[in-house]
Amino acid sequence: LNSERGHAMLNLALTNSVLLFFSSSPLEGSGPLRPVFTKQPGSIVFPLHLNEPSREVTFSCEAQGHPPPSYRWKINDSFILPQPGSRYSISGGNLRISQLNKEEDSGIYQCLASNSFGTILSREASLHIAYLEEFKTQRRSPVSVREGQGVVLLCGPPAHMGELTFSWIFNEYPSFVKQDTRRFVSQKTGNLYIAKVEPSDVGNYTCVVTNSVTQSRVQGPPTPLVLRSDGVMGEYEPKIEIQFPEVVAVAKGLTVKLECFALGK
Ligand SMILES: *[C@@H]1O[C@H](CO)[C@@H](O)[C@H](O)[C@H]1NC(C)=O
Ligand SMILES: *[C@@H]1O[C@H](CO)[C@@H](O)[C@H](O)[C@H]1NC(C)=O
Repeated sequence: LNSERGHAMLNLALTNSVLLFFSSSPLEGSGPLRPVFTKQPGSIVFPLHLNEPSREVTFSCEAQGHPPPSYRWKINDSFILPQPGSRYSISGGNLRISQLNKEEDSGIYQCLASNSFGTILSREASLHIAYLEEFKTQRRSPVSVREGQGVVLLCGPPAHMGELTFSWIFNEYPSFVKQDTRRFVSQKTGNLYIAKVEPSDVGNYTCVVTNSVTQSRVQGPPTPLVLRSDGVMGEYEPKIEIQFPEVVAVAKGLTVKLECFALGK
C-alpha cells in the first residue's frame, strides 16, 4: 500500500510540474507576477507664493507586474479618492494634486500598487508646504527707554513654514540696522537687541522677515523707540539676554551659529 501511495504521489508531483512548466512558459520575459516598484515617491517641499495661480505637485510611482498593477494613494493612512472634478488625479501610478492647500495637503503620502497576486506599499514621502503669512498686528506701542539703558524690540513673526531670516529697517527703507557690538538681530527669534541706547537710536524700527524657502518677504508694523527725559542710566553690569541652548544637534559638515548677546553699559 505504502509503495502504491508513494507511486501515486510521484505521479501527481510529475503531473504538477509538467502543468506548471506549460502554464508558466507563456509568461517568460513578461516580468514578475507580483507588483514590484520601479519608481517610488520622494518627499517634496513646495514653496507657496500667495498670489501664484498654479499650485500643483506630482508624486511619482510606478510598478511592474503581471497583470499590470492598479494604483491607489494614501495620505496620513487614509485613502485618497480621486473623483472627477476633484483636486486629485492619478495617471499611471502618479498622483497629481492641484490647487494645493497647506491645511489639507501637508502630510505623509504612500502609493499602493495591486494586482491579483498582491499589493505593495511604497516608502513614505512627505509634502511640506512652505509659506509666510502677513503680520496680523497693525500697530505697536512706543518703547520708552532712558539713554544708556538696554532694550529688546520684539519681532513676533507671522505664521510660517520654512526657515526664516530677519533684519530691521531703521526709519525708512532701505536703511537697515547695522549690527555691531551694541546692536544685534537674533536669527532665532528675529528680536532686535540694543545693549545701551544712544540718542541717535530714536526712531521707528520695522522687522523684515524673509522665508528662505519661498523667498517671500513681509514687514511688521513699526515700533517707535523714544527716549525718556528723566535722566541718563548709570553704568551697570552686563546681562546676557540671548544664550545658546545646552545642546545643539548638527549634522557633520554643516555650519552652526551660536547666538550670544548681552545688554550693559
Ligand atoms: C497629516 O499629519 C500631519 C502630522 O500629524 C498633520 O500635520 C497634517 O495636518 C495631516 N494632514 C492631513 C491632511 O490630515
Ligand atoms: C515714526 O513714525 C511715525 C508714524 O508714522 C512718524 O510720525 C514719525 O515721524 C516717525 N519717526 C521718525 C524718527 O521717523
